Amino acid sequence: MNIAKKLLGSLFFLVLILSGYQSAQAQDINFNDSWSFFNEEAKGAEMANFDDSNWRKLDLPHDWAIEGPFDEKYNARCGGLPFHGTGWYRKHFKTPESAKGKVVRLEFEGAMYDAHVWVNGKFVGNRPYGYIGFEFDISKELKYDGSENVIAVRLQPQDLSSRWYPGAGLYRSVWLKIDEAVHVAQWGTYITTPTVTEKIAVVQNETTVVNKSDQKASVTVKHEYFAPNGEMVASVEEPIEIEANSSKVSGLYCKINNPLRWDTETPNLYSALTTITQNGKVVDTYKTRIGLRSIAFTKDGFFLNNKKIRFNGVCLHHDNGALGSAVYRRADQRKLQIMKDMGVNAIRTSHNPPSRVFLELCDELGLVVLDEAFDVWKKAKVPNGYNVFFEEWAERDIKDMVRRDRNHPSVIMWSTGNEILEQGDKKNGWKVAKMLNDYCKEIDPTRPTTVGMNNYTAPYESNFAQQTDIAGINYKPTKYAEIRETYPELPIYASETSSCTSSRGVYHLPIEKYKTHESIHVSSYDLIGPPWAYPPDVEFHFQEQNPYIMGEFIWTGFDYLGEPTPYGGKDNSTNGYWNGDWPSHSSYFGAVDLCGFPKDRFFLYQSHWTTKPMIHLLPHWNWEGMEGDTIPVYCYTNCDEAELFVNGKSMGRKVKGKDLTELIVKFIRYEGETFQSKYRLSWNVPYEAGTIKVVGYKDGKEILTEQISTAGEPAKINLSIDRSEIDADGTDLAYVTVRIEDKDGNICPMADNLVNFSVKGAGELIAVDNGNQISLESFQANHRKAFSGMCLAILRSSKNTGEITLTAKSKKLKSSQISITTK
Ligand code: GAL
Repeated sequence: MNIAKKLLGSLFFLVLILSGYQSAQAQDINFNDSWSFFNEEAKGAEMANFDDSNWRKLDLPHDWAIEGPFDEKYNARCGGLPFHGTGWYRKHFKTPESAKGKVVRLEFEGAMYDAHVWVNGKFVGNRPYGYIGFEFDISKELKYDGSENVIAVRLQPQDLSSRWYPGAGLYRSVWLKIDEAVHVAQWGTYITTPTVTEKIAVVQNETTVVNKSDQKASVTVKHEYFAPNGEMVASVEEPIEIEANSSKVSGLYCKINNPLRWDTETPNLYSALTTITQNGKVVDTYKTRIGLRSIAFTKDGFFLNNKKIRFNGVCLHHDNGALGSAVYRRADQRKLQIMKDMGVNAIRTSHNPPSRVFLELCDELGLVVLDEAFDVWKKAKVPNGYNVFFEEWAERDIKDMVRRDRNHPSVIMWSTGNEILEQGDKKNGWKVAKMLNDYCKEIDPTRPTTVGMNNYTAPYESNFAQQTDIAGINYKPTKYAEIRETYPELPIYASETSSCTSSRGVYHLPIEKYKTHESIHVSSYDLIGPPWAYPPDVEFHFQEQNPYIMGEFIWTGFDYLGEPTPYGGKDNSTNGYWNGDWPSHSSYFGAVDLCGFPKDRFFLYQSHWTTKPMIHLLPHWNWEGMEGDTIPVYCYTNCDEAELFVNGKSMGRKVKGKDLTELIVKFIRYEGETFQSKYRLSWNVPYEAGTIKVVGYKDGKEILTEQISTAGEPAKINLSIDRSEIDADGTDLAYVTVRIEDKDGNICPMADNLVNFSVKGAGELIAVDNGNQISLESFQANHRKAFSGMCLAILRSSKNTGEITLTAKSKKLKSSQISITTK
């Protein structure tokens, strides 16, 4: 029996390896390779015999907009990149032998934007919303005689259709799925855990089985559950009958003893293997990855497996900086890991459904997710936004999002929208809110719904807030107590907070709260932002004062392309172009810059959200010409005390929580002009070149130090790589951090040297960046200027194993080389 189990286990894992990840089936063929692309309208390109031999050949994922060039004529709000216009993709292929007589579906995990699809000249369907996946049954359109088929896809992203950089193209995976007439439907399993305790998990599995044949089908539906170590721990089956050309849901539950529960610290994942057998023959297998966990939301907080957890959350847009919106698993994995290192346990996918890969990673890393559907409903924020499609598509889109994502243990709430303009519309707003809420509940009653609301008190008075389970509050820390008092039963959390802005490594003195700065950058003393924004400290304070609040989602974890507030635009619903401060074109909101390099704010959050001792010092110590002037030095730490030394001389020891730092704070609904922060320590120090050093103490003992020295002239390039080995699969990435250092290895904080890259071996350079929001250099170039002493090179493996070697050179600097193995 044990041997049989083991065999089954390994067979199962073979199926997993063959089929990729969640919801993939054994017969799924990845269709990312060998597409032809044309970046303009092409008359007749939908026809099978259209000549595309001159078109560019490429593999997916592909985002044409990230290739640039940056231009003022594109909206800075959307990254100043050519994301609108028409793009065509065509793929030629022969139908696999195995597809004869089968059901063949073509699946797009997402296509940006307004996709229309033809197969062999026949229109098979369209899908406007770029963030949702869709599929078409193309069995009838395909040729099975060995001759060639052509898929043609036309995408038409519009100008003024987004408030941020959306990307453009077939930016997520495409699949060809071959099935018997009887098979599990798309996103066809729905696995819930009505009971999860330390001792037992009850697992409920509703699987939709499709019968596309003209005869009634008698089949057996079997589910086997595998523990994280691959051992089969439960199994259940039932016979069902499905009428011809219809589908049927099989509902089966079983018990798993002593479950290893999924949580943010130990994200244990189980798998369910669903097997459909007809006349003694296996006709379909379908794998679903699940986590056994319970969630509960009360007016006192959020509980995961009965344990109260506060959201140390971040809002994230979907782009990955220099890679644009193209989905690379490693890019998202790195992004989420950096967030975890900051102390993050929760993500809000602002303001759209994320990729499948993104949610798989959240499952794996133990991050809870607020899965968000829309940024707008019917009332437009920008003229050509989703509002254009809402009436026709909203039901389908939101239901598909819930259907697609409802097996992810990471997903804990469905957000039907962000700062929806219908919030205050007493007549109709609440009706739409209710409608979307009901759609979510119809597909998944196990999770609550939410909406991010920014117009307190309007949504409460218009009966809008009451249509969702959990009220999300954007930017109202000073109102928590009042909301609680007025609506004592409503569970609440802060769906968007802070919106503080900064440019990595940039410090403006003296510290003042300005709206904009002539450099088109923002100082990293972490207190500048638009009128609704405030420093992180303010949110920390009000969350502590109101402990029933479930936590916060900061705007944002990472910088993203577009929305360069406080430059270029007035607010988040201004129509028209945002090019007033060109070349500013990407966000300053991130705690981490576009490269993934932490800004100072990263450490402020880390000091508040993590307990492993850390200490961080700012600013840099290169203030030539300012000798004797006062420089404010800030320390972000979770130590009890910290002592600052300048060239060995103590500037005093400060106690965290007792010694306060006065911040200039001014934002909507805040009375007063300053805020005494107990979350940062600070000293005013007369500048002298040399070294500043901070010592951190815990329980009176010295446990950590951090120091910054005045750097000399740039002398060399230092390269470091994020991993020592990557997969030779043509999609894995290596991130190389480039630092410009003086001869002693100090980072040169103002260095902007141009670095030239060359790559040899089993991979290529696919993107460069430096996190500078105003740089118009191409992300695709083989060179990049440093910004605040750093830049980034991203390498992609080829399908050959071996070594990739990157050489970095710069005039007058000692060059450097680094290698990585691909396996
Ligand atoms: C919010 C909005 C976000 C972003 C942010 C910038 O109001 O929901 O999408 O625009 O402002 O502060």
